[in-house]
Amino acid sequence: MRRHLIDAARRGGALTTGRPGPGSDRTRRRRTLVRFGVIAAVLVVMLGVFGPVFAQAQIEIQDTNPYTTTDPKSPEGGKIQDLYKLIFWMGVVVFVFIQFLIVYTAMRFKRRRFQNTRPNQVHGHRTLEITWTVIPAIVLLIIAVPTISTIYSTYAAADDTDDAIVIEVYGKQWWWEVHYPAAGADSATGAEGDVVVTANEIRVPEDQKVVFKLYSNNVIHSFWIPEMTGRMDVIPGHERRLAFTPQESGTYYGECAEFCGTAHAWMRFVVKVQPQAEFDTWMAAMQQPPGVATAGYAPDGDVAQTPREFGQCLQCHNITGTNAVVAGAGIATDPTSYSAGPNLTMLACRDTLAAGLLENTPENLALWLLNPGHVKEGNYMYAVDAGVKNQGEPGALAPESVNVLVAYLESLRPDAGCPEAGTERGNMNTDALAANAAPVATPAPVVPAATPVGGTPAATGGAPAAGGPVQLEGIDINWTQKELTVPVGGTIDMWNGGVLPHNFAIEGYNDAAPVDLPTTGEHVMWAVPADLAPGTYTFYCEVPGHRQAGMEGTITITAS
Ligand code: CUA
Repeated sequence: MRRHLIDAARRGGALTTGRPGPGSDRTRRRRTLVRFGVIAAVLVVMLGVFGPVFAQAQIEIQDTNPYTTTDPKSPEGGKIQDLYKLIFWMGVVVFVFIQFLIVYTAMRFKRRRFQNTRPNQVHGHRTLEITWTVIPAIVLLIIAVPTISTIYSTYAAADDTDDAIVIEVYGKQWWWEVHYPAAGADSATGAEGDVVVTANEIRVPEDQKVVFKLYSNNVIHSFWIPEMTGRMDVIPGHERRLAFTPQESGTYYGECAEFCGTAHAWMRFVVKVQPQAEFDTWMAAMQQPPGVATAGYAPDGDVAQTPREFGQCLQCHNITGTNAVVAGAGIATDPTSYSAGPNLTMLACRDTLAAGLLENTPENLALWLLNPGHVKEGNYMYAVDAGVKNQGEPGALAPESVNVLVAYLESLRPDAGCPEAGTERGNMNTDALAANAAPVATPAPVVPAATPVGGTPAATGGAPAAGGPVQLEGIDINWTQKELTVPVGGTIDMWNGGVLPHNFAIEGYNDAAPVDLPTTGEHVMWAVPADLAPGTYTFYCEVPGHRQAGMEGTITITAS
């Protein structure tokens, strides 16, 4: 081919000049040098221009971007990053080599003036074809071997829970439920065997392998902490696992990486990596009942009881150490009713509300409770509306109720104060997030009252009005009176002062057919039947979960 081109150049008539002909060795060497020189110059210029830009960008990404994947903080993430680097640098080599070939070929074999013959064709050139089949195969092999071995070692690490802390995470719409099961326990279906249940904020000890078991019973989510390791899809009906060993204390941002509905973009969470001692302190704090600050908002100062205003919240939210223990948890919840909301244990100690959308301040909490649908479009708390008491504008809760709830929720912190918040880093701009949730038009967000509100139940049960019937009120979730004394032939005036359904049953007497207490608040006059012999009985609410939540007392029937 070269001979052919040289012949063509000769025919171009350059021989008439006095300088060395184009076919001479010196000329060819000079041309080759010029070609290499031009290519080298272009490469140097490109490096000079883009090198510092890339270097600077890399520094900025590592310093400020909490979603970077190029600076992993766990060995498992490091392995994936090594693969990425291998592929990237091989790609760079191939790219530079191909670009060089293109430029060189274009310069060396371009069509010369007066050259009208077709160059030699290389179709069917066996050596060439074998070469350009073998080279990519080798390239792919170099990528495939470490990739496959990394995949297998990653899965093996996630299957091995020895010496690892196991954390179960449930993808909900649109937030994350986090369970810390007791050692050896597997609580995939609910809260049984869990030491701590929380939401959207995952604490893990530093230098400790963590195995995440991931579940969903609604749609596919994807659990992703970019700075730690790769993402893992969370698929209904499957247990997916992800393991890593965080090596640096700090706060890391996570998010759902699979479109899962309206508020997918607001399905965020944080992972707080802490020294073991700080982590232990947090675990201990999370297992205590609410502290004395809570007493001011609980009926009769009993921190195990939630305020009346919390009644409708009980259907979806749990608070460890209180009677808010009836809502479903884990994948035991009905995926079609979206019935369960985040566990609110020690809510006051969390950094954010609504899965990373708002900074956790009393003002933002009020904003969120007043108009959840406005703050986070599509969330299911907005749907808790029709038919409830205190129906207000624009959300379901009246501002007075919101006031009580904010005060109560803000009091949910251990007596010793919130455990160490962990090192803050990154740039999740909660102010900007709050601004994103445009303010509600009316009413203005309320803040907690200076003095506790709602300290005592509104109605007092038990003592009959002079000569009147014994009074018994069911609220969410408790009886206002737990010791009743009624003479044979007497009457109990009972009603439901809460928003949840309740009923009245006497153990061993009418368990199968309890007296229904309508949520309308209507009074039910119940005459003690003649076949109920004098004695002391246990009475309770037969609605599932309510008895465990505290709706139990004793009734003594006295001979008249
Ligand atoms: Cu969950 Cu997107």
